[in-house]
Amino acid sequence: MKQGRMSQTALKVALGLVTLSVKDDWAQRLPPGLVDVSERLLLASGSPGYGPRLMRLSKQPWMIRVYQCQDRMMIPGQFEAFGHRKIFMQQQVEAAIEQGARQVLVVAAGFDTLCLRLAPQHNQVQFFEIDHPATSVAKARGIAAEGQPANMKQIAVDLGERALSKVLSEDSRWQSSLPSIILAEGLFQYLTDDAVRGLLADAATCVPPGSRFACSHAIPGERPVLSFLTRLIAEPWKSAVRSEDLHEYVEGTGWTVTSDVDTDSTHGVERYAVAERR
Ligand SMILES: C[S@@+](CC[C@H](N)C(=O)[O-])C[C@H]1O[C@@H](n2cnc3c(N)ncnc32)[C@H](O)[C@@H]1O
Repeated sequence: MKQGRMSQTALKVALGLVTLSVKDDWAQRLPPGLVDVSERLLLASGSPGYGPRLMRLSKQPWMIRVYQCQDRMMIPGQFEAFGHRKIFMQQQVEAAIEQGARQVLVVAAGFDTLCLRLAPQHNQVQFFEIDHPATSVAKARGIAAEGQPANMKQIAVDLGERALSKVLSEDSRWQSSLPSIILAEGLFQYLTDDAVRGLLADAATCVPPGSRFACSHAIPGERPVLSFLTRLIAEPWKSAVRSEDLHEYVEGTGWTVTSDVDTDSTHGVERYAVAERR
């Protein structure tokens, strides 16, 4: 990621969801409030071009064709996959809370709206978001405008420079003894394989056994256009793993994959998984 610049891919995910909401029945399928909050966070971000005009254009039916064309050229199925991913992650968080999780941590949150939307519904749960400072600061403006829930905390940190465990150990609110769920959505592909495993191993030290880690990960494949463009915006993809190999991939990190092998091609070039802290 370019030093000091907010994540372009985080902006793109949120904007893609705004357009997805005008396709077929996606407005009903996406978690309630997600699109409206995403739109307001994007507007408040102050990112050049992300103004009311772009929001209006993004909801024009022809924009769907733009994304479909992008899918064909670059990342097959990814337009709708963002919707599937948001639904999957929310389901994991709701299930974990139902089963006793008391902390939700979204790593590399981007303009994700989950904490903002769910924190007011779950007063007994603490919600945390971590992201790179450049993106965090831009999102903080939107969070302030929405009204930051008392049980939600945003932490701005470059995880390439500081370990997650160190960051959380210095936070007075985070309690390593509480059952938790950690999300890493659309993050692993921006880290090397070693960094992914390092993050998992480090995260394992921050939560008690029984806690969960829900993630998406890229699957291997030749994607020359995507590769070129992600390098151009200084957010290259660095890792990929087949869902079939994930169990072995996370071995030794303190987590065991508990979800089934994800063979769902509607998830685009990613697959989803849940692991449990043993
Ligand atoms: C593709 S975006 C995904 C955003 C969000 N999880 C979503 O799915 O909507 C990747 C995110 O990773 C964050 N990120 C990348 N490198 C990071 C780092 N070293 N430390 C903290 N966050 C980082 C970016 O700021 C960005 O928000």
